[in-house]
Amino acid sequence: MSKAPVHEQWQNRWIFILAATGSAVGLGNIWKFPYITGENGGGAFVLVYLLCVAGLGIPIMLAEVLLGARGRLSPVNSMRSAVAESKVSKAWVSIGWMGVLAGLMILCFYSVIAGWALDYVALTAIGTFNGATAVDAKNIFENMLASPGTLIFWHTVFMLMTMGVLLAGVTKGLGMVARVLMPILFVVMLIMLGYAMVTGEFMQAVSFMFSFNFSALTSKSILIALGHAFFTLSLGMGAIMAYGAYMHKDGKLGQTVLTIGFLDTLIALVAGLCIFPIVFAQGASPSSGPGLLFQSLPIAFGAMPGGLIFGTLFFVLVVIAAWSSAVSLIEPGVAWLIETKKFTRKQACLVLGMAVWAVGVLCALSFNVLGDFTPIWLFGKNIFDFLDFATSQLMLPIGGLLMALFVGWKLARPALAHEVGNLQTPAMKMWLFALRYISPVMVSIVLVVGLYNALLS
Ligand code: PFF
Repeated sequence: MSKAPVHEQWQNRWIFILAATGSAVGLGNIWKFPYITGENGGGAFVLVYLLCVAGLGIPIMLAEVLLGARGRLSPVNSMRSAVAESKVSKAWVSIGWMGVLAGLMILCFYSVIAGWALDYVALTAIGTFNGATAVDAKNIFENMLASPGTLIFWHTVFMLMTMGVLLAGVTKGLGMVARVLMPILFVVMLIMLGYAMVTGEFMQAVSFMFSFNFSALTSKSILIALGHAFFTLSLGMGAIMAYGAYMHKDGKLGQTVLTIGFLDTLIALVAGLCIFPIVFAQGASPSSGPGLLFQSLPIAFGAMPGGLIFGTLFFVLVVIAAWSSAVSLIEPGVAWLIETKKFTRKQACLVLGMAVWAVGVLCALSFNVLGDFTPIWLFGKNIFDFLDFATSQLMLPIGGLLMALFVGWKLARPALAHEVGNLQTPAMKMWLFALRYISPVMVSIVLVVGLYNALLS
């Protein structure tokens, strides 16, 4: 089945790898991974996370890229063509729909957090944290959250940045992310690593992250590691499927996916090795939760040589990482509107961008004026927490589970073989085994236990 592509294509395989890495590397790597590692005791958690990426993440990512590469359309329409080709129930197309919706929902709150990082670029650059104490840093963070104007302003700036890239299209916009932003991100990350090595408690950080003390590991940590493997690799919602659709035919899917998984993991580990040495150098606790990046780290930078420059650079890094992920959250919806509703790219970006912006404003208000709006139909959560919960704990795992089942059991074998080659090699047999048995069991456990915890808490 060969069709003329509806969309533009990546210029080459490396542009695809870098764009997909841009989607994968985001707030999940730089903000969330270090703090959940800190909260879950360090080394043993890192090991479990690595096992989840290898055993669950990589196999599902290959399934997702393959569906995109096969269909060469938005997740909804790629699923439609895979369903038609495999002669199975149309209900499987819901994978695509859920993905489009999940992406838009994630972007609503993701943009608000990215807005915090933008605010912190400005705050750090003007020296707000010079000589700041822990109490100062806490107040600065809380004042930001309490100010609707500040949160909405930076959320708006971030959405404009995201829409700017999307408007420019696949080659110029998303390709620019790959060609320009990703190399900048790698270089800034190396500079930060060097800074952490020279000025921070580097060896203490290494031993914190890589000495496997299993007594600190609880069953909840394992679930967190599993859920995070999905989020960090951008799996289960069609972002990677949409990117896979813009790939050339000679994609070498297996190698490509391994490279993306490797780069994403490497960057999460390096982020930890940038942050913990600085946190330890100031005697701060690694287990301070979501505030690690926005409270502990700024104080540390404020007290260190060159902290103004390196602190600012660090938050620029967070913004770049979030930016390159945000564009992939909305692209599946944009592609679908272009294909099915005959929108121009500009119209599609405007419609979806404005919808996400409006719900994002409600997310920003969840930290202040709408903080008490926690109706029962949002599971007793505020809008921000509900969107986070519904996507990270339900929709991404369900999407990933369905993709694994679809490719493992339903997708027509000739279609599968056409995309990945000989299915009888040991690597391919292992991959299919992981998709058919390991992923469904592991993901079902995450889902059930996650839901149970959420309903009880
Ligand atoms: N992988 C991104 C991160 O780690 O921040 C988040 C994300 C992007 C999740 C795109 C899902 C997605 F489709």
